[in-house]
Amino acid sequence: MSRLVAGGTVVTATKTFQSDILIEEGRIVGIGENIDRKSSQEIVDATGCYVMPGAIDVHTHLNLNLGEEKVSDGFYHGSVAAAHGGTTSIVEHPGFGPAHCALNHQMDLYRDQAKDEMVVDYGFHGVVQHVDEHVLSAIKGLTATGISSLKVYLTYGGRLGDEDIIKVMKATHAAGGLTAFHAENHAIIGELTQEIRDKGDITDPANHPRSRPDYSEAEAVNRLIALSRAAGNAPIYIVHLSTASGLEIIKEARRNGFQIHVETCPQYLTLTESCYQEADNKRLQYIMSPPLRTQKDCDALWEGLADGSIDVVATDHCSFSFAQKLKNGKTDIFKAPGGIPGVETRVPLLFSEGVLKNRIDLNRFVQLVATNPATIMGLAPQKGSIDIGSDADLMIFDPEIEKIISTQVLHQHVDYTPFAGMRVKGWPKTVLLRGEVLVCDGKLSATKGFGRFINRRKNKYLVKV
Ligand code: URP
Ligand code: ZN
Ligand code: ZN
Repeated sequence: MSRLVAGGTVVTATKTFQSDILIEEGRIVGIGENIDRKSSQEIVDATGCYVMPGAIDVHTHLNLNLGEEKVSDGFYHGSVAAAHGGTTSIVEHPGFGPAHCALNHQMDLYRDQAKDEMVVDYGFHGVVQHVDEHVLSAIKGLTATGISSLKVYLTYGGRLGDEDIIKVMKATHAAGGLTAFHAENHAIIGELTQEIRDKGDITDPANHPRSRPDYSEAEAVNRLIALSRAAGNAPIYIVHLSTASGLEIIKEARRNGFQIHVETCPQYLTLTESCYQEADNKRLQYIMSPPLRTQKDCDALWEGLADGSIDVVATDHCSFSFAQKLKNGKTDIFKAPGGIPGVETRVPLLFSEGVLKNRIDLNRFVQLVATNPATIMGLAPQKGSIDIGSDADLMIFDPEIEKIISTQVLHQHVDYTPFAGMRVKGWPKTVLLRGEVLVCDGKLSATKGFGRFINRRKNKYLVKV
Protein backbone atom coordinates (compact mmCIF):
# COMPACT_ATOMS: atom_id res chain seq x y z
CA MET A 1 0.00 0.00 0.00
CA SER A 2 1.35 3.44 -0.88
CA ARG A 3 0.22 6.75 0.58
CA LEU A 4 1.02 10.35 -0.20
CA VAL A 5 0.87 12.91 2.58
CA ALA A 6 0.23 15.97 0.49
CA GLY A 7 0.21 19.72 0.87
CA GLY A 8 1.61 20.08 4.38
CA THR A 9 4.47 22.00 5.94
CA VAL A 10 7.11 19.49 6.96
CA VAL A 11 8.85 20.28 10.24
CA THR A 12 11.94 18.35 11.29
CA ALA A 13 14.50 18.91 14.02
CA THR A 14 16.37 21.34 11.79
CA LYS A 15 14.16 22.46 8.88
CA THR A 16 10.68 23.72 8.00
CA PHE A 17 9.57 23.43 4.36
CA GLN A 18 6.61 22.80 2.07
CA SER A 19 6.69 19.18 0.94
CA ASP A 20 4.77 16.04 0.17
CA ILE A 21 5.84 12.71 1.63
CA LEU A 22 5.52 9.44 -0.26
CA ILE A 23 5.17 6.24 1.74
CA GLU A 24 5.58 2.68 0.58
CA GLU A 25 5.60 -0.50 2.66
CA GLY A 26 5.49 1.56 5.85
CA ARG A 27 8.58 3.61 5.07
CA ILE A 28 9.26 7.06 3.71
CA VAL A 29 10.39 6.72 0.08
CA GLY A 30 9.96 10.26 -1.23
CA ILE A 31 10.17 13.79 0.15
CA GLY A 32 9.58 16.70 -2.21
CA GLU A 33 7.22 19.31 -3.51
CA ASN A 34 4.37 18.30 -5.83
CA ILE A 35 5.02 14.55 -5.91
CA ASP A 36 2.83 13.07 -8.63
CA ARG A 37 -0.48 12.10 -7.01
CA LYS A 38 -0.76 9.14 -9.36
CA SER A 39 2.30 7.64 -7.63
CA SER A 40 0.22 6.51 -4.66
CA GLN A 41 -2.95 4.62 -3.87
CA GLU A 42 -4.19 6.98 -1.17
CA ILE A 43 -3.78 10.69 -0.49
CA VAL A 44 -3.70 12.02 3.06
CA ASP A 45 -4.46 15.72 2.89
CA ALA A 46 -2.18 17.77 5.13
CA THR A 47 -3.13 21.21 3.84
CA GLY A 48 -2.83 23.84 6.56
CA CYS A 49 -1.05 21.38 8.87
CA TYR A 50 2.47 20.72 10.08
CA VAL A 51 3.80 17.28 9.17
CA MET A 52 6.14 16.20 11.94
CA PRO A 53 7.78 12.94 13.01
CA GLY A 54 5.49 10.83 15.18
CA ALA A 55 6.14 11.84 18.76
CA ILE A 56 8.07 9.55 21.10
CA ASP A 57 7.44 9.30 24.82
CA VAL A 58 10.38 7.60 26.51
CA HIS A 59 8.96 7.70 30.04
CA THR A 60 5.65 5.93 30.59
CA HIS A 61 4.19 3.57 33.17
CA LEU A 62 1.21 2.42 31.11
CA ASN A 63 1.00 -0.92 32.87
CA LEU A 64 2.38 -0.34 36.36
CA ASN A 65 1.14 -2.87 38.89
CA LEU A 66 2.11 -2.35 42.52
CA GLY A 67 0.22 -5.46 43.63
CA GLU A 68 -2.28 -3.66 45.86
CA GLU A 69 -2.86 -0.97 43.18
CA LYS A 70 -2.62 -1.07 39.39
CA VAL A 71 -2.76 1.94 37.06
CA SER A 72 -6.08 2.37 35.34
CA ASP A 73 -5.22 2.32 31.65
CA GLY A 74 -2.92 -0.64 30.93
CA PHE A 75 -1.15 -1.15 27.61
CA TYR A 76 -4.21 -0.94 25.37
CA HIS A 77 -5.94 2.18 26.71
CA GLY A 78 -2.63 3.86 27.45
CA SER A 79 -1.39 3.36 23.91
CA VAL A 80 -4.72 4.48 22.43
CA ALA A 81 -4.40 7.69 24.44
CA ALA A 82 -0.81 8.08 23.25
CA ALA A 83 -1.91 7.73 19.61
CA HIS A 84 -4.64 10.36 19.99
CA GLY A 85 -2.00 12.74 21.35
CA GLY A 86 0.37 12.23 18.40
CA THR A 87 2.69 9.71 20.07
CA THR A 88 3.61 6.77 17.84
CA SER A 89 6.27 5.13 20.03
CA ILE A 90 6.73 4.79 23.74
CA VAL A 91 9.47 3.36 25.95
CA GLU A 92 7.91 1.94 29.10
CA HIS A 93 9.53 1.81 32.53
CA PRO A 94 8.61 -1.54 34.09
CA GLY A 95 7.84 -1.63 37.82
CA PHE A 96 9.95 -3.57 40.29
CA GLY A 97 9.69 -7.36 40.18
CA PRO A 98 9.80 -9.90 43.01
CA ALA A 99 12.77 -9.52 45.39
CA HIS A 100 16.03 -10.82 43.87
CA CYS A 101 14.43 -11.58 40.50
CA ALA A 102 16.62 -11.94 37.43
CA LEU A 103 17.29 -8.80 35.39
CA ASN A 104 15.16 -10.09 32.54
CA HIS A 105 12.17 -10.92 34.72
CA GLN A 106 10.22 -7.68 34.33
CA MET A 107 11.09 -7.13 30.68
CA ASP A 108 9.96 -10.66 29.77
CA LEU A 109 6.72 -10.16 31.68
CA TYR A 110 6.05 -6.78 30.12
CA ARG A 111 6.86 -8.00 26.60
CA ASP A 112 4.31 -10.73 27.05
CA GLN A 113 1.67 -8.37 28.43
CA ALA A 114 2.24 -5.71 25.75
CA LYS A 115 2.35 -7.76 22.57
CA ASP A 116 -1.38 -8.22 21.94
CA GLU A 117 -2.42 -4.88 23.43
CA MET A 118 -0.31 -2.01 22.15
CA VAL A 119 -1.48 0.13 19.24
CA VAL A 120 1.74 2.18 19.07
CA ASP A 121 5.29 0.86 18.76
CA TYR A 122 7.10 0.26 22.03
CA GLY A 123 10.27 -0.60 23.83
CA PHE A 124 11.21 -1.13 27.46
CA HIS A 125 13.84 0.20 29.77
CA GLY A 126 15.41 -2.38 32.03
CA VAL A 127 15.04 -1.89 35.78
CA VAL A 128 17.79 -2.73 38.28
CA GLN A 129 16.48 -3.27 41.80
CA HIS A 130 19.39 -5.21 43.29
CA VAL A 131 22.94 -5.90 42.20
CA ASP A 132 24.88 -9.14 42.17
CA GLU A 133 27.11 -10.87 39.64
CA HIS A 134 24.11 -12.39 37.78
CA VAL A 135 22.48 -8.99 37.31
CA LEU A 136 25.72 -7.38 36.18
CA SER A 137 26.51 -10.09 33.69
CA ALA A 138 22.93 -10.05 32.33
CA ILE A 139 23.19 -6.38 31.34
CA LYS A 140 25.14 -7.20 28.17
CA GLY A 141 22.53 -9.71 27.04
CA LEU A 142 19.72 -7.28 27.70
CA THR A 143 21.22 -4.47 25.63
CA ALA A 144 21.83 -6.98 22.84
CA THR A 145 18.09 -7.76 22.71
CA GLY A 146 17.03 -4.21 22.02
CA ILE A 147 16.68 -3.02 25.62
CA SER A 148 19.56 -0.57 25.56
CA SER A 149 18.77 1.51 28.63
CA LEU A 150 18.38 0.65 32.30
CA LYS A 151 16.62 2.54 35.06
CA VAL A 152 17.93 2.91 38.58
CA TYR A 153 16.03 4.55 41.43
CA LEU A 154 17.74 6.49 44.20
CA THR A 155 14.59 6.28 46.30
CA TYR A 156 11.66 3.86 46.78
CA GLY A 157 11.97 0.21 47.86
CA GLY A 158 14.08 -0.94 44.91
CA ARG A 159 16.67 1.84 45.24
CA LEU A 160 20.37 1.20 44.86
CA GLY A 161 23.26 2.50 46.98
CA ASP A 162 26.29 4.28 45.55
CA GLU A 163 28.58 1.25 45.26
CA ASP A 164 25.98 -0.66 43.26
CA ILE A 165 25.22 2.37 41.12
CA ILE A 166 28.84 2.62 40.03
CA LYS A 167 28.85 -1.09 39.15
CA VAL A 168 25.67 -0.72 37.09
CA MET A 169 26.95 2.40 35.34
CA LYS A 170 30.16 0.62 34.39
CA ALA A 171 28.49 -2.58 33.20
CA THR A 172 25.84 -0.69 31.23
CA HIS A 173 28.39 1.60 29.62
CA ALA A 174 30.58 -1.38 28.68
CA ALA A 175 27.56 -3.04 27.09
CA GLY A 176 26.79 0.09 25.03
CA GLY A 177 23.72 0.98 27.09
CA LEU A 178 22.54 4.09 28.90
CA THR A 179 21.67 4.24 32.60
CA ALA A 180 18.64 6.37 33.52
CA PHE A 181 18.04 7.67 37.03
CA HIS A 182 15.18 8.76 39.24
CA ALA A 183 17.21 11.33 41.17
CA GLU A 184 15.95 12.07 44.68
CA ASN A 185 17.86 11.62 47.95
CA HIS A 186 16.12 8.88 49.93
CA ALA A 187 17.52 9.82 53.35
CA ILE A 188 16.36 13.43 53.08
CA ILE A 189 12.86 12.31 52.06
CA GLY A 190 12.77 9.76 54.90
CA GLU A 191 13.84 12.28 57.54
CA LEU A 192 11.45 15.04 56.45
CA THR A 193 8.54 12.61 56.07
CA GLN A 194 9.13 11.33 59.59
CA GLU A 195 9.16 14.90 60.96
CA ILE A 196 5.82 15.57 59.28
CA ARG A 197 4.45 12.29 60.66
CA ASP A 198 5.70 13.16 64.16
CA LYS A 199 3.79 16.43 64.00
CA GLY A 200 0.71 14.41 62.97
CA ASP A 201 0.21 16.48 59.84
CA ILE A 202 -0.27 13.74 57.28
CA THR A 203 -3.56 14.76 55.67
CA ASP A 204 -2.36 17.99 54.05
CA PRO A 205 -1.04 17.46 50.48
CA ALA A 206 0.97 20.69 50.87
CA ASN A 207 3.33 18.57 52.97
CA HIS A 208 4.16 16.40 49.97
CA PRO A 209 6.60 18.94 48.39
CA ARG A 210 7.91 19.78 51.88
CA SER A 211 8.94 16.13 52.26
CA ARG A 212 10.81 16.15 48.91
CA PRO A 213 12.53 19.57 48.67
CA ASP A 214 14.46 20.79 45.66
CA TYR A 215 17.78 20.10 47.38
CA SER A 216 16.93 16.39 47.56
CA GLU A 217 16.89 16.35 43.74
CA ALA A 218 19.96 18.59 43.42
CA GLU A 219 21.97 16.39 45.79
CA ALA A 220 21.05 13.24 43.88
CA VAL A 221 21.92 14.80 40.51
CA ASN A 222 25.24 16.05 41.86
CA ARG A 223 26.08 12.64 43.31
CA LEU A 224 25.19 10.85 40.07
CA ILE A 225 27.58 13.06 38.14
CA ALA A 226 30.37 12.21 40.60
CA LEU A 227 29.51 8.51 40.42
CA SER A 228 29.55 8.66 36.63
CA ARG A 229 33.08 10.11 36.82
CA ALA A 230 34.11 7.21 39.03
CA ALA A 231 32.51 4.85 36.50
CA GLY A 232 34.77 6.11 33.72
CA ASN A 233 32.46 8.92 32.58
CA ALA A 234 29.61 6.55 31.84
CA PRO A 235 26.81 8.51 30.12
CA ILE A 236 23.72 9.05 32.27
CA TYR A 237 20.13 10.14 31.71
CA ILE A 238 18.15 11.99 34.37
CA VAL A 239 14.40 11.34 34.19
CA HIS A 240 11.73 13.89 35.17
CA LEU A 241 14.01 16.75 36.22
CA SER A 242 11.93 19.22 38.23
CA THR A 243 14.20 21.85 39.77
CA ALA A 244 16.24 24.90 38.85
CA SER A 245 18.94 23.80 41.31
CA GLY A 246 19.26 20.36 39.68
CA LEU A 247 19.48 22.02 36.28
CA GLU A 248 22.26 24.37 37.39
CA ILE A 249 24.38 21.38 38.43
CA ILE A 250 23.70 19.68 35.10
CA LYS A 251 24.68 22.79 33.12
CA GLU A 252 27.97 22.96 34.97
CA ALA A 253 28.63 19.25 34.35
CA ARG A 254 27.90 19.69 30.66
CA ARG A 255 30.27 22.64 30.48
CA ASN A 256 32.87 20.25 31.89
CA GLY A 257 32.17 17.77 29.13
CA PHE A 258 30.04 15.13 30.88
CA GLN A 259 27.61 13.13 28.82
CA ILE A 260 24.46 13.74 30.81
CA HIS A 261 21.08 13.68 29.11
CA VAL A 262 18.08 15.32 30.71
CA GLU A 263 14.35 14.88 30.53
CA THR A 264 11.56 16.95 32.02
CA CYS A 265 7.77 16.62 31.77
CA PRO A 266 4.84 18.98 31.07
CA GLN A 267 3.73 18.93 34.72
CA TYR A 268 7.03 20.47 35.83
CA LEU A 269 6.69 23.14 33.14
CA THR A 270 3.05 24.14 33.55
CA LEU A 271 1.93 23.38 37.12
CA THR A 272 3.33 24.62 40.44
CA GLU A 273 3.17 23.61 44.08
CA SER A 274 0.22 25.98 44.47
CA CYS A 275 -1.84 23.00 43.20
CA TYR A 276 -1.33 21.42 46.65
CA GLN A 277 -3.16 24.42 48.16
CA GLU A 278 -6.36 23.91 46.15
CA ALA A 279 -9.48 23.94 48.25
CA ASP A 280 -10.74 20.36 48.19
CA ASN A 281 -9.54 16.79 47.96
CA LYS A 282 -8.53 17.43 44.34
CA ARG A 283 -5.18 18.48 45.78
CA LEU A 284 -4.40 14.79 46.12
CA GLN A 285 -4.46 14.44 42.33
CA TYR A 286 -1.07 16.12 42.18
CA ILE A 287 0.76 13.57 44.33
CA MET A 288 3.73 12.60 42.19
CA SER A 289 7.45 12.27 42.73
CA PRO A 290 9.28 14.51 42.37
CA PRO A 291 6.52 16.92 43.44
CA LEU A 292 5.42 20.08 41.65
CA ARG A 293 7.77 22.99 42.32
CA THR A 294 7.76 26.80 42.20
CA GLN A 295 7.22 29.14 39.26
CA LYS A 296 10.95 29.90 39.42
CA ASP A 297 11.66 26.22 38.77
CA CYS A 298 9.20 26.11 35.85
CA ASP A 299 10.84 29.20 34.33
CA ALA A 300 14.31 27.66 34.66
CA LEU A 301 13.15 24.45 32.97
CA TRP A 302 11.65 26.41 30.07
CA GLU A 303 14.99 28.18 29.70
CA GLY A 304 16.70 24.79 29.77
CA LEU A 305 14.48 23.59 26.93
CA ALA A 306 15.28 26.67 24.88
CA ASP A 307 19.04 26.75 25.51
CA GLY A 308 19.58 23.02 24.91
CA SER A 309 20.43 21.96 28.46
CA ILE A 310 17.29 19.80 28.62
CA ASP A 311 17.01 17.31 25.75
CA VAL A 312 13.66 15.58 26.10
CA VAL A 313 10.09 16.23 27.17
CA ALA A 314 8.48 12.93 28.22
CA THR A 315 5.48 12.38 30.51
CA ASP A 316 6.08 9.91 33.36
CA HIS A 317 2.48 8.92 32.54
CA CYS A 318 1.28 6.87 35.52
CA SER A 319 -2.48 6.79 35.75
CA PHE A 320 -3.38 5.85 39.27
CA SER A 321 -6.92 7.21 39.47
CA PHE A 322 -8.19 10.01 41.67
CA ALA A 323 -10.33 7.35 43.36
CA GLN A 324 -7.20 5.33 44.20
CA LYS A 325 -5.40 8.43 45.47
CA LEU A 326 -8.40 9.31 47.66
CA LYS A 327 -8.88 5.80 48.99
CA ASN A 328 -5.26 5.44 50.05
CA GLY A 329 -4.22 9.03 50.63
CA LYS A 330 -7.11 10.89 52.24
CA THR A 331 -6.05 10.04 55.79
CA ASP A 332 -2.32 9.74 54.98
CA ILE A 333 -0.95 11.58 51.94
CA PHE A 334 2.20 9.44 52.02
CA LYS A 335 0.10 6.40 51.13
CA ALA A 336 -1.44 7.90 47.99
CA PRO A 337 -0.04 6.12 44.89
CA GLY A 338 2.20 8.60 43.07
CA GLY A 339 2.08 9.68 39.45
CA ILE A 340 -0.21 11.45 37.03
CA PRO A 341 -1.60 10.76 33.55
CA GLY A 342 -0.23 12.81 30.64
CA VAL A 343 0.58 10.65 27.62
CA GLU A 344 -2.19 12.22 25.51
CA THR A 345 -1.62 15.86 26.44
CA ARG A 346 2.18 16.13 26.19
CA VAL A 347 2.42 17.22 22.56
CA PRO A 348 -0.48 19.72 22.52
CA LEU A 349 0.62 21.24 25.83
CA LEU A 350 4.21 21.69 24.70
CA PHE A 351 3.01 23.23 21.43
CA SER A 352 0.62 25.68 23.11
CA GLU A 353 2.75 26.56 26.12
CA GLY A 354 6.07 26.36 24.30
CA VAL A 355 5.75 27.24 20.61
CA LEU A 356 2.74 29.55 20.76
CA LYS A 357 4.19 31.41 23.75
CA ASN A 358 7.50 31.82 21.89
CA ARG A 359 9.50 29.88 24.46
CA ILE A 360 10.74 27.38 21.86
CA ASP A 361 10.53 27.30 18.08
CA LEU A 362 8.93 24.63 15.90
CA ASN A 363 12.16 22.76 15.21
CA ARG A 364 13.10 22.70 18.88
CA PHE A 365 9.60 21.36 19.57
CA VAL A 366 10.25 18.45 17.16
CA GLN A 367 13.63 17.83 18.76
CA LEU A 368 12.14 17.65 22.24
CA VAL A 369 9.15 15.40 21.54
CA ALA A 370 10.57 13.15 18.82
CA THR A 371 14.10 13.45 17.45
CA ASN A 372 16.10 13.73 20.68
CA PRO A 373 14.30 10.92 22.54
CA ALA A 374 14.77 8.73 19.45
CA THR A 375 18.46 9.52 19.22
CA ILE A 376 19.28 9.26 22.92
CA MET A 377 17.27 6.10 23.50
CA GLY A 378 18.44 4.26 20.38
CA LEU A 379 15.26 4.42 18.26
CA ALA A 380 16.94 6.49 15.54
CA PRO A 381 17.21 6.43 12.57
CA GLN A 382 14.13 4.17 12.32
CA LYS A 383 12.06 6.58 14.43
CA GLY A 384 12.01 10.29 15.27
CA SER A 385 12.83 11.88 11.92
CA ILE A 386 11.45 12.44 8.44
CA ASP A 387 14.07 10.85 6.22
CA ILE A 388 14.13 8.46 3.28
CA GLY A 389 14.08 4.95 4.73
CA SER A 390 12.70 5.92 8.15
CA ASP A 391 9.46 4.42 9.40
CA ALA A 392 6.57 6.52 8.14
CA ASP A 393 5.52 7.54 11.66
CA LEU A 394 3.97 10.94 11.11
CA MET A 395 1.96 13.40 13.13
CA ILE A 396 -0.13 15.68 10.97
CA PHE A 397 -0.62 18.53 13.38
CA ASP A 398 -3.42 21.04 12.86
CA PRO A 399 -2.44 24.34 14.52
CA GLU A 400 -6.05 25.58 14.40
CA ILE A 401 -7.76 22.88 16.49
CA GLU A 402 -8.65 24.30 19.89
CA LYS A 403 -9.56 22.28 22.96
CA ILE A 404 -10.05 22.83 26.64
CA ILE A 405 -8.44 19.85 28.33
CA SER A 406 -10.84 17.64 30.29
CA THR A 407 -11.41 13.93 30.79
CA GLN A 408 -14.27 14.21 28.28
CA VAL A 409 -12.02 15.20 25.38
CA LEU A 410 -9.30 12.68 26.25
CA HIS A 411 -9.00 8.92 25.72
CA GLN A 412 -6.85 8.19 28.77
CA HIS A 413 -8.66 5.55 30.82
CA VAL A 414 -8.57 7.50 34.06
CA ASP A 415 -10.98 9.64 36.04
CA TYR A 416 -9.02 12.92 36.01
CA THR A 417 -6.41 14.96 34.23
CA PRO A 418 -4.11 17.29 36.18
CA PHE A 419 -4.29 19.69 33.22
CA ALA A 420 -8.08 20.10 33.35
CA GLY A 421 -9.26 23.52 32.22
CA MET A 422 -6.11 24.41 30.28
CA ARG A 423 -6.87 25.79 26.83
CA VAL A 424 -4.68 24.50 24.02
CA LYS A 425 -4.48 25.47 20.36
CA GLY A 426 -3.03 22.84 18.04
CA TRP A 427 -3.70 19.10 18.11
CA PRO A 428 -2.72 16.12 15.94
CA LYS A 429 -5.38 15.67 13.26
CA THR A 430 -4.03 12.50 11.64
CA VAL A 431 -1.43 10.14 13.06
CA LEU A 432 0.36 7.52 10.95
CA LEU A 433 2.39 4.61 12.26
CA ARG A 434 4.55 2.75 9.74
CA GLY A 435 2.43 4.35 7.04
CA GLU A 436 -0.92 3.16 8.43
CA VAL A 437 -3.50 5.59 9.76
CA LEU A 438 -3.71 5.18 13.53
CA VAL A 439 -5.98 8.12 14.25
CA CYS A 440 -7.85 10.49 11.95
CA ASP A 441 -10.09 13.34 13.13
CA GLY A 442 -10.31 11.89 16.61
CA LYS A 443 -11.17 8.34 15.44
CA LEU A 444 -8.91 5.38 16.09
CA SER A 445 -8.41 2.96 13.20
CA ALA A 446 -5.69 0.71 14.58
CA THR A 447 -6.51 -2.61 16.15
CA LYS A 448 -5.13 -4.06 19.37
CA GLY A 449 -1.68 -5.48 18.91
CA PHE A 450 -0.76 -3.31 15.88
CA GLY A 451 2.16 -1.87 17.86
CA ARG A 452 5.51 -3.63 17.43
CA PHE A 453 8.43 -4.07 19.77
CA ILE A 454 11.31 -1.75 18.84
CA ASN A 455 14.74 -3.31 18.86
CA ARG A 456 16.59 -0.27 20.23
CA ARG A 457 20.20 0.35 19.29
CA LYS A 458 23.12 0.57 21.63
CA ASN A 459 24.37 3.97 22.59
CA LYS A 460 27.43 3.89 20.39
CA TYR A 461 24.90 5.53 18.07
CA LEU A 462 24.42 8.36 20.54
CA VAL A 463 25.18 11.69 19.00
CA LYS A 464 25.54 14.96 20.80
CA VAL A 465 22.05 16.48 20.91
O1 URP B 1 5.20 9.62 41.28
C1 URP B 1 5.60 9.11 40.25
N1 URP B 1 6.26 9.84 39.39
N2 URP B 1 5.36 7.83 39.99
C2 URP B 1 5.80 7.09 38.89
C3 URP B 1 7.11 6.41 39.17
C4 URP B 1 8.27 7.36 39.05
O2 URP B 1 8.83 7.76 40.04
O3 URP B 1 8.67 7.70 37.93
ZN1 ZN C 1 10.56 8.41 38.85
ZN1 ZN D 1 8.41 7.32 36.10
